[in-house]
Amino acid sequence: MRKADYGIDAPGVIRNLFVIGGVLLLATLFGPAGVGPFRVGGTSVTLETRGMFAGGAVSCLLGGALMILYAEVGKFRHRDRMLAMIPWTGAENVLDVGAGRGLLAIGAAKRLTTGRAVGIDIWNAADLTGNTADAFLANAEAEGVAERIEVRSADARRMPFPDASFDVVLSNVCLHNIPDAKGRAEACREIGRVLRPGGVALVSDFRETALYAAAFREADFNVERSGLGLFDTYPPMRIVTARKPKD
Ligand SMILES: C[S@@+](CC[C@H](N)C(=O)[O-])C[C@H]1O[C@@H](n2cnc3c(N)ncnc32)[C@H](O)[C@@H]1O
Repeated sequence: MRKADYGIDAPGVIRNLFVIGGVLLLATLFGPAGVGPFRVGGTSVTLETRGMFAGGAVSCLLGGALMILYAEVGKFRHRDRMLAMIPWTGAENVLDVGAGRGLLAIGAAKRLTTGRAVGIDIWNAADLTGNTADAFLANAEAEGVAERIEVRSADARRMPFPDASFDVVLSNVCLHNIPDAKGRAEACREIGRVLRPGGVALVSDFRETALYAAAFREADFNVERSGLGLFDTYPPMRIVTARKPKD
């Protein structure tokens, strides 16, 4: 049986980092050592360009390499860290918002017995390589949890579920893709709506987490925002934990 494959996040960003990094590396090796001299307030100044090109090349190439390392290793450690924050009974109904190829939903399904894990997504190709509902289902099959998994095509801002449908809602690097703050807050309100009283949402992202925390607080959730996870994720991410009051 084939091995599960959870794809590489933001492949276009990684490609651009390597292309720009490569160009800056060539400029470091073969470009001019400096430009100038210019006259600045009566002083003659020469701009040292090689150091600037070298700094830019290192940060772009390192950034691209760290993003690949996250996709190959870090995302699994980050997933396990998130899932370890839930005291599983095995009977939970779980929702993964922006599930992609099923990283969190499938990880959760492995901890379920009678419960189910549902993944929703709009399958944006720019956000993850091979990002399709079929790839998600093939991974669920490969991981032996297909009977506890459901996949739906749906936008985080308008979820096709009744109120209080889920015990746990999970989301990893999805909500920042929503282009406006209003839409990101809408998605948080939807997460809150479909969560049952007493349920918990874990929303992880590399930016906008202060907005998510504020949106959940506005709905009277009990909210915590973690520090930056510096070692497993690139870019570094935070996890917002939002608990819905029991009543
Ligand atoms: C970087 S991928 C992460 C996928 C998965 N959560 C993971 O950690 O491997 C972001 C996902 O969010 C999805 N997405 C973006 N905007 C969305 C929206 N408005 N509603 C639902 N999913 C969305 C993308 O299609 C993509 O699958």
